[in-house]
Amino acid sequence: MKKKIFSGVQPTGNLHLGNYLGAIKNFVKLNDDPENHCVFCVVDLHAITVNQDPKELRENIRETVATFVASGIDPKKSIIFNQSKVSAHSEVAWILSCTARMGWLNRMTQFKEKAGKDKEKASIGLYSYPILMAADILLYDTTHVPVGDDQKQHLELCRDIAQKFNNDFKVDNFFKLPEPLIQKEFSRIMSLKDGSKKMSKSELSNLSRINLTDSEDQIINKIKKAKTDTLPIPSNIDELNGRLEAKNLLIIYSSLSGLTLEKTINKFAEKNFSEFKKNLSQILVDKINPISQEIKKLLNEKSYLDKILLEGSKNANQIASKKIEKIHEIVGF
Ligand code: AMP
Ligand code: TRP
Repeated sequence: MKKKIFSGVQPTGNLHLGNYLGAIKNFVKLNDDPENHCVFCVVDLHAITVNQDPKELRENIRETVATFVASGIDPKKSIIFNQSKVSAHSEVAWILSCTARMGWLNRMTQFKEKAGKDKEKASIGLYSYPILMAADILLYDTTHVPVGDDQKQHLELCRDIAQKFNNDFKVDNFFKLPEPLIQKEFSRIMSLKDGSKKMSKSELSNLSRINLTDSEDQIINKIKKAKTDTLPIPSNIDELNGRLEAKNLLIIYSSLSGLTLEKTINKFAEKNFSEFKKNLSQILVDKINPISQEIKKLLNEKSYLDKILLEGSKNANQIASKKIEKIHEIVGF
């Protein structure tokens, strides 16, 4: 049986190296395997859980599609669409919000991080966000979900919701329980300025991340300014303990070069960081520059990008509308 793959990326601008290495690179590999049926969603409904400028949002939706295609996802092989155009997502999110329990949502660490100190002022959407994510996944009978490490908890919640719905309505195996696909060594890329924080779109300092649209000069400059420590590169992994920034840069090199972290350490053992950084900049430029050039080119072809989304939403709608018909029947509508 074909594997059914589903994943989503928020169109909130500044797609970065963490998104690429943690998620999109994996999407490309899955897209290339004819054994898989892949659906990649630009999750614009998720994006509006925090304020968005409508004009920017529309551009960011296109930029996310451009990034998918520039990275190597083939819209002829995979369905690429934006969430708001398939209304089943919102509808199933409502139905599942009657299955999910408050106590489950209260445990979600991403909400706590994003809402910050003043939870009373966070939108309800930000709180119920993981239920919408569960709807995304369950509508397509998804078997595997490629994501970065930060989404693991949301996937566990999705499985809990699916299981409770199946039990409550006595419909064994109706919603399939999806497996996360999280890369082992490289699931979390950290900020270039603080190795204890995730590389993130919303971090104020642009120096904290490599954006997928950065030019060669910007990449070189950001790596030059990336935080390290005064010690040289160690000769074994254990000596990296507590050296968060050093470890992160070595992880980035490993992921881009296809080497294990251990092999990368062997390659640069006892060298100083200025020499390593030259190699890191080079591999980043080699891998990221072609993608950023292609993104820029595609952004000038708006009608092509819009056509991908239109086709994708038609195909997604076909799958989702069948599932929702069955859901109506099960629930008693
Ligand atoms: P988002 O930008 O939050 O929509 O995330 C899109 C995908 O990128 C999700 O699968 C995330 O888990 C992944 N991701 C985001 N930031 C990072 C990071 N710093 N390291 C690894 N994966 C990440
Ligand atoms: N919540 C995910 C993120 O912030 C994005 C997302 C929405 C998603 N729906 C999804 C990821 C379904 C995987 C599957 O990164």
